[in-house]
Amino acid sequence: MSTDARATAAVNDAGAQGAVPRTTLRSRHLISIDDLDSEEITLILDTAEAMKEIESRPIKKVPALRGKTVVNLFYEPSTRTRTSFEIAEKRLSADSLNVAATGSSVAKGETLLDTARNLEAMAPDMIVLRHAASGAPHQLARASRASVINAGDGTHEHPTQALLDGFTIRARKGRIAGLKVAIVGDLLHSRVLRSNVLLLRALGAEICVCGPPTLMPPGIEQFGVRATTRIDEAAEGADVIMMLRIQRERMQGHFVPSLREYFNVYGLTAERVERAKPDVIIMHPGPMNRGVEIASEVADGPYSVMLDQVANGVAVRMAVLYLLAGNPDDV
Ligand code: CP
Repeated sequence: MSTDARATAAVNDAGAQGAVPRTTLRSRHLISIDDLDSEEITLILDTAEAMKEIESRPIKKVPALRGKTVVNLFYEPSTRTRTSFEIAEKRLSADSLNVAATGSSVAKGETLLDTARNLEAMAPDMIVLRHAASGAPHQLARASRASVINAGDGTHEHPTQALLDGFTIRARKGRIAGLKVAIVGDLLHSRVLRSNVLLLRALGAEICVCGPPTLMPPGIEQFGVRATTRIDEAAEGADVIMMLRIQRERMQGHFVPSLREYFNVYGLTAERVERAKPDVIIMHPGPMNRGVEIASEVADGPYSVMLDQVANGVAVRMAVLYLLAGNPDDV
C-alpha cells in the first residue's frame, strides 16, 4: 500500500473505532500544541504510524511532497530537530534547504522578517523555524504565505518534540490516558515542558512536575499539573519519567548552588528509578547532561527510551509535513 493510502487508512481506522474521522489539520501552521485539539494530535500520531513503515523499506522514500520546497531556518543550535526534519523532508521527496544563523546574512544583522521576506520571494511551501525568541514563529506566520512549523522558540514551545514524545509513550505503553508522567528538571526555561503538558493533558495523562523552587514557574498548577520539589515524590508510581536539562544558556544569575549539588538533590539515579512502576520508561529530549540531571547508568540502562524518541522524531515530522501540505486525499 502506498504511504498516502496507509495514512488515509490510519485516519479511516481511527474513524471506524469511534473517533471523529478528521483527515486534515485546521491550521496551515504548527506553532503551538495549544492550537491542536485531541483529534488533531491523534491524527498526527496515527499518520506517524503509517510513516514509520517507510523506515523498514530498502528505499526509504515516497513521492508525497514532490515539488514542495521546505526551508529549515535555524537561529539556534540543533542536532536532533534539524537533522530529523531534513531526513523527513528527503523521505517525502521535498526539495529542502538549510539556512543557519552562522553562514547566512543573519550574522550580518539581518532581521528575522527581512530574512523571511527574502526567502518568501523564492516561494517556499514551508518554513521550519527555530529561534531564541518566544513568539518568533507567530511573527513569521503572520508575514509568510508558507506554512510555518515551530522547531522550538525560546522558552515558549517545541510542539514536534511533544508529538514525538507522545508517539513514543503511546508506542511503548499502548495508551496515554491515565498514565502517571513525572517531568523533572529545569521547568522554568523548558519549551519541551510546556508543549508536553499541553499534549499529555489533552490526551488524558496525569502529570507531576518537579524541580527546585528557583526553577519552578509560578502558578504552574493552573496548567492542570501537580507540582513538587521532591524527586522521590514525583517518581513514586510513575509510568513515565521525563528528565529535562538545566538550560544554562538561558539563565542569568545562579538558579542552583552547583551542578554537583543539583545532581545530588534532583538527578535521576538507579535508586530513584526504583520508586517508579517496574515497567517505567525514562525519557529525555536531549541534549542531556550526564551526571547533572541524569546518571549515565540510567541514561544507558534498560528503561531508557531516548534513542526511540530520536528515531520516532523522523516519522512524526514526516506526518506533520505531510498533513500541513494538504488533505492526505489530495496529496
Ligand atoms: N530535543 C531537541 O530539540 O534537540 P536539538 O536541540 O538537538 O534539536
